[in-house]
Amino acid sequence: MIEQQIKTVIRDIPDFPKPGIVFKDITPILQSPGLCESIIDVFIARLQGLQIDGVAGVESRGFLFGLTLATKLGVPFIPVRKAGKLPHTVKQKIYELEYGSATIEIHTDAFKPGDHILIHDDLLATGGTVTAASQLIQEMGGIVSGFSFVVGLSFLNGREKISPISDNITVLAN
Ligand code: PRP
Ligand code: ADE
Repeated sequence: MIEQQIKTVIRDIPDFPKPGIVFKDITPILQSPGLCESIIDVFIARLQGLQIDGVAGVESRGFLFGLTLATKLGVPFIPVRKAGKLPHTVKQKIYELEYGSATIEIHTDAFKPGDHILIHDDLLATGGTVTAASQLIQEMGGIVSGFSFVVGLSFLNGREKISPISDNITVLAN
């Protein structure tokens, strides 16, 4: 089962990037092309029936599967980047992380008003990042059709934070 496969390969790094944080390192997944392919296949299967006109992936780890997912779904990929990285006109949002604060930006022409956007990231912790992304997408006229994550840290209650935005939440491993 995909959940067990993911849990077996990801590793805990204590006190990274700050004391007290147990960091879930997903990079071992990337060493297995077979597991990467399975992750995409399971996402595609679980997202069946959802209207998705674009996949927004959050920098940087949300890019890893986000682009492949968008490509397999046959829709555009929308990079959600940290401040100052996107070269064209942007809209931005400031948000709080488990270990600090950050600003995200999206190109103003990345999608059309009324488009249904799936928000993808590698990991759901507090839900602060994807909540900020969904607020930004909604302010830009998009409709959040759901969320997808490879890993979820259920003890941080991110699912409860994002469920009022959309109850279409796919988490492969908790
Ligand atoms: C991590 C992770 C998510 C976010 C989850 O990103 O990739 O984007 O934190 O935390 P949250 O649910 O509490 O918001 P990070 O900002 O560490 O950047 P990175 O992907 O570039 O490593
Ligand atoms: N992003 C936010 N919290 C995290 C954690 N504990 N491990 C990996 N990525 C994270």
